[in-house]
Amino acid sequence: MKGLPYKLTGILLLAFVLFSCAGNYASEYEKQRDQKVETLLQEMTLEEKIGQLMQKNGEFPQLREYIEDGLVGSILNVPDPKRVYELQRLAVEESRLGIPLLVGRDVIHGFKTIFPIPLGQAASWNVDLVEDGARIAAIEAASQGINWTFAPMIDVTRDPRWGRIAESFGEDPFLNGVFGAAMVRGFQGDDLSNPNTIAACAKHYAAYGWAEGGRDYNTANIPESELHNVVLPPFKMIIDAGAASIMTAFNEINGIPATGHVPLMRDLLRQEWGYEGVVLSDWRSLEQLVIHGYSPNEKEATYEGMQATLDMEMVSTGYETYLPELIEEGRIDESQIDDAVRRILGMKFDLGLFENPYGLGEDFPELLHPSHLEASRQMAIESVVMLKNEDVLPVPEHVRSIAVIGPLADAPHDQMGTWVFDGEKEHSVTPLQSIREFAGDNGLEVYYHRALQLSRSKEITNADAILRDVNRADMVLLFLGEESILSGEAHSLANIDLQGAQEELVELVSGPGKPVAAVIMAGRPVTFEKAEPYMDAVLYAWHPGTMAGPALTDIIFGKVSPSGKLPVTFPRHVGQIPIYYNHKNTGKPPSYESWVHIDDIPEEAVQYSLGNTAHYLDYGFEPMYPFGFGLTYSSFELENPELENPTLQVGDTLRASVVLQNTGDVEAAEVVQLYTRQLFGSLTRPVKELRDFKKIVLEPGQSREVVFEINTQDLGFHNPDKGFVTEPGDYHLWLGTDSRDGLKKEFEITR
Ligand code: NOJ
Repeated sequence: MKGLPYKLTGILLLAFVLFSCAGNYASEYEKQRDQKVETLLQEMTLEEKIGQLMQKNGEFPQLREYIEDGLVGSILNVPDPKRVYELQRLAVEESRLGIPLLVGRDVIHGFKTIFPIPLGQAASWNVDLVEDGARIAAIEAASQGINWTFAPMIDVTRDPRWGRIAESFGEDPFLNGVFGAAMVRGFQGDDLSNPNTIAACAKHYAAYGWAEGGRDYNTANIPESELHNVVLPPFKMIIDAGAASIMTAFNEINGIPATGHVPLMRDLLRQEWGYEGVVLSDWRSLEQLVIHGYSPNEKEATYEGMQATLDMEMVSTGYETYLPELIEEGRIDESQIDDAVRRILGMKFDLGLFENPYGLGEDFPELLHPSHLEASRQMAIESVVMLKNEDVLPVPEHVRSIAVIGPLADAPHDQMGTWVFDGEKEHSVTPLQSIREFAGDNGLEVYYHRALQLSRSKEITNADAILRDVNRADMVLLFLGEESILSGEAHSLANIDLQGAQEELVELVSGPGKPVAAVIMAGRPVTFEKAEPYMDAVLYAWHPGTMAGPALTDIIFGKVSPSGKLPVTFPRHVGQIPIYYNHKNTGKPPSYESWVHIDDIPEEAVQYSLGNTAHYLDYGFEPMYPFGFGLTYSSFELENPELENPTLQVGDTLRASVVLQNTGDVEAAEVVQLYTRQLFGSLTRPVKELRDFKKIVLEPGQSREVVFEINTQDLGFHNPDKGFVTEPGDYHLWLGTDSRDGLKKEFEITR
């Protein structure tokens, strides 16, 4: 076609593409999508194509000009909806091709109505609530012109020092996948083109939660089997749920920075898994390939990004600066850019932006609509994990006066937790406000002391007055934990004990001998072994969001029972990290018979038999609280575990059941958890792996048969030499209410 004018060549090519594809489309929708995308692609100059690959920050000085020139595919961090509208208008009405913008924002756990941090949401073990929370966040964000969120974060992590554990669903791959998929469904709904849905962006691909020592952005050294069996499965699950996009990670993985990781991105994500959504870098993470010491300069980083099939660059400018040169040199083929543009335009089409760029036409409910606040309250209730209760909660009838003490009782900003760009503390209802309201209605006295200005303050203020009020109160409610600023991105901690003078505060208020119920609000598991004996009850509330107050008041005064379960193991001491339930057995598994505490070693001993098993002399081998653990105001019993067929073949369905009974005297919810273990294999397997769970509400005395169905195929794992294998052999299965105990059954998978 040499010699033909550019435009004519384009038209002929387009006609060819459309003709050759005719009849191959799975649906009319796909046909229209392709036609739109290919038509635009044919009309675009190289500069405009590259422009689609660029995501610009709202503060970029020449943003307007760039948009008018068609050099921007997406914007992020433009909080003012009027400005969003104006920028979208520029793109649609003033740029040559009128291609709308993807408008991105970190809508992580709510927009204006803030839900519990994702780690707290995971503690609810309630998939429907998590989905509904994302749906509400999408509605609120979409009403402000946003069409793309950078969530869910599905980085499995085993390190509570890592500040971003707050944003994850904890340590388990299955939980991360299940809740990640729920959020994807919530954000995106059934039809992404509805103006009240937004595109999800699952992150961070991959192994961001594996940062050495929990120091954010750090190196992830991870064996291939662990990468495939622990870190990657949630990504597969969100892809199956239809996630529109994926964000790469800042870290390197075994020597290759994630944002230019050809084996993980091009080979695995695109080729093996067939992912056709948009892949976005993290903030300037492409240019950081140079700082990592992987690429000699930004041009080479750009080359790596393209080779890895990275579609869009967040904020840094390698693509717009170097791609034209790389094409001219013949190192990058323009078709690679076309593929990236196709994916981005395809996402815009799916979002309905070509028809309705501003997301108009929807009758959006007001921000912070009462139904949104109610959903946030319910999620906050279900996220609370009761770790201890020596008969002090719910607050008994005879208690007529309460001392409410601590830096988190009335901390409207901190109760929202990390990543709340759009949350406003003015809308938070604090525990103190709600307790006062309840007390007013029920004739209770409340004496309040903040005691510590911040969770990390080292001085207790007004200790005498605190003691006076504890003495005259019937009971103490202590609100401890972490301010929101102590978790989140780049907010890792080496010491995860209760910060500041909180331990001293617990000791002080427990002095007079009044019952002490502690509520801990934090972005991570904190270690509080020293303080725990002074607490008669512990409610672990994470950062519960806007409705912390009403939710906690409902629990504290017994309107509802706590029902949360830990999505992460709680260490007793930071030195035990990593400590997680799905560990390997080792050749010398620890036991109480073999363990000798350091204090019990005779002073004169120079040699002493210490059992030679995998433990610490000082901290043994058990966590403070196991994964999956959480108490209720009732009691439950499990009985009659049944396996329909203890001998199965690969591909058969395993059917297991157990009877759950509420043996206490209040209505409550219990989470029945199913774990399995492959006893031996071509690679050693974890001692337990969560396979499924069900949250069941029962009245006192009521019982229910809980049935699980699992495809034996899904019990397999990735062996680097063989790929994904489900191996014949002996297996155990547990049905329990946490990861430590459970009723055990055995089964066999035969050839
Ligand atoms: C950096 C964070 O790692 C990422 O998760 C976030 O979405 C972007 N910044 C945009 O704010």
